[in-house]
Amino acid sequence: MDEVRNLLVKPEFPRSNGYDLTWVLDNQMGPNALWLAEWLCSRLPLAPGMRILDLGCGKAISSIFLAREYQARVWAVDLWMDPDPNWRRVLDTGCADLVCPLRAEAHALPFAEGFFDGAICLDAYQYFGTDELYLDYLSRFVRPGGFIGVVAVGLMQPIGKQPPAHLVEPQSNGKVFWEDSCRCFKTVEFWQDLWDRCGKVTEVQVEPMPDGWRHWRDFDRALELTGKNKPFPSDVEALERDGGRYVGFVRLTARRTEMTDFNLYDPSLGFKVGVDS
Ligand SMILES: C[S@@+](CC[C@H](N)C(=O)[O-])C[C@H]1O[C@@H](n2cnc3c(N)ncnc32)[C@H](O)[C@@H]1O
Repeated sequence: MDEVRNLLVKPEFPRSNGYDLTWVLDNQMGPNALWLAEWLCSRLPLAPGMRILDLGCGKAISSIFLAREYQARVWAVDLWMDPDPNWRRVLDTGCADLVCPLRAEAHALPFAEGFFDGAICLDAYQYFGTDELYLDYLSRFVRPGGFIGVVAVGLMQPIGKQPPAHLVEPQSNGKVFWEDSCRCFKTVEFWQDLWDRCGKVTEVQVEPMPDGWRHWRDFDRALELTGKNKPFPSDVEALERDGGRYVGFVRLTARRTEMTDFNLYDPSLGFKVGVDS
C-alpha cells in the first residue's frame, strides 16, 4: 500500500528503510523500535564484535538491527517476552551467530561485571530507570569506557500535578492516551539531572528527538491502516492533538567511568568479600 509506504519510509532513517515493512509492523510493541535504534546508534561508537546488552528488547528487532547493521554481538534481554519466538526471529533473519535472546528482569541481570562494551534500552527504560539508583546498577555490567544509550518515551515540557486535558480526553475510538503509568514519562531536564548525579558515568548527553511525535504518529497510523494495531486502539488522534507539545522521545547517552564492587539490587551476587567466588 502506497499510503503505508509513505508513512514508513523516511529520509531520517536510511538504515531502517532497508527492512521489510510487514516484518517491522508485525513485530512492533509500540513506537517503531528500528527508528529508535537508528537514532540512538547514530550517537554510539559501535564496532563489529562489540558485546551489547539490549535491555527490554521486546521482540528483539532492535537486537537484530544492531547485529545486521554493526555486526555487534547482542544479548537480547526482556522480561515479558518469551525468548523462544525471539530466537526464531533471530534465526529467520540470519543472525544466529550474533544475537542471544534471554529472559531476565532489569534488576537481576545475569551477567559479569564489565562484560558489555555497551548497553542500550529502547522504549523500556522509563519503566525502571527513573529509580535514583538504577543507572549505578546497570553501569556495573558495562566495561570502563563503554557506553550506555537509551531512548525513552518522554515529556517535551514538564506537566503540573494533572496531565494536560487534551491527553486525558477520550479519542473517537474511545482510547484515552494518558494512563496513570504515564507519570514515568520524564523531561530532558529530569534525565540530565538524574544521570549527572551518578558518578559511574560521564559525558552525559540528553536530548529530545526532532519530530519524535510525528514519527510515533506515522507508525501508529500505518499500524491502524494495516489492522496490525489490534487489539490496541490507535493513539493517532491524541498525538495529533498534542502535536509534540508534551509527548515525544528523549535520548540519553553516557560513558562508563570506573568499576564498582557492589551489586545494588542483589548484594549476595555482587558484594566482593575479598576472594573471588
Ligand atoms: C514498550 S516495550 C518495548 C520493547 C522494545 N524495546 C521495542 O521498542 O519494541 C517495553 C519492554 O520492556 C520490557 N520490560 C519492562 N520492565 C522490565 C523489567 N523490569 N525487566 C526487563 N524488561 C522489562 C517489557 O518486557 C517490554 O518488552
